[in-house]
Amino acid sequence: MTTPVITIDGPVASGKGTIARRLAEALNFHMLDSGAIYRAHAQACLTRHIEFNEINRLAIEAKALSLQFSGEDVWLDGADATDAIRSEAVGMAASTLSAIPEVRAALLQRQRDFSQPPGLVADGRDMGTIVFPDAALKIYLTATAQVRAERRSGQVARQRVAAGETMSAKQLIEKGQSPTIAGLLETIRAQVQPDVEAQIRRRDSQDKSREIAPLKPAVDAIVIDNAAHSPDETVVAILRLWHLRT
Ligand code: DC
Repeated sequence: MTTPVITIDGPVASGKGTIARRLAEALNFHMLDSGAIYRAHAQACLTRHIEFNEINRLAIEAKALSLQFSGEDVWLDGADATDAIRSEAVGMAASTLSAIPEVRAALLQRQRDFSQPPGLVADGRDMGTIVFPDAALKIYLTATAQVRAERRSGQVARQRVAAGETMSAKQLIEKGQSPTIAGLLETIRAQVQPDVEAQIRRRDSQDKSREIAPLKPAVDAIVIDNAAHSPDETVVAILRLWHLRT
């Protein structure tokens, strides 16, 4: 019997990581975060100062990538790289390097190896189109760039407040406003939103316009615009689709 696979593809900040993880937990399936593999490869190439036109070295690095997953943590060359690979700079580098056919070819089998019983939820850009074309259920998650930028900016604001950012609190006090947590979060969110949206649009355009494995829904994918839905609602909807098929 073949291992059942659910693919979740979509653009930056479409919520696919959260949804894929919750689905995997609900079904007790394995989880593949393919973006983390491309990010880890980009991080390894940046660390080793490999130029983006050294195709042979980039492909060798992809084949030799020393990468382990431990839950949501990612270990690269024996060190915890979970936070390092999540920076926007590494995301953009991953987007650029992932357009190189030799890099994609070198990383393909590593991704397919995640398909193990009792099942797999695979999150990425080409899971339904290239890596798992026979997947039992293919979902393409999306929302407008503006909605995705609002979500990502909200995350950035929460991280900065948690890390003790006080600059925006000072700005609120100077404007005669009280520096509540909600006020701080909103001030930071509004400050970072334009840059975050510009980065999202740049990466969307790069991921959609490349010649190899461009980001697009598989012909047999179900497209879900989740702008108006909570992650829980989206997970419930996908679980319903899954149970209808099994
Ligand atoms: O999903 P993410 O933001 O972590 O992915 C980072 C980049 O990696 C993304 O901009 C394009 C590339 N990628 C890819 O080309 N194919 C995948 N299946 C996953 C990611």
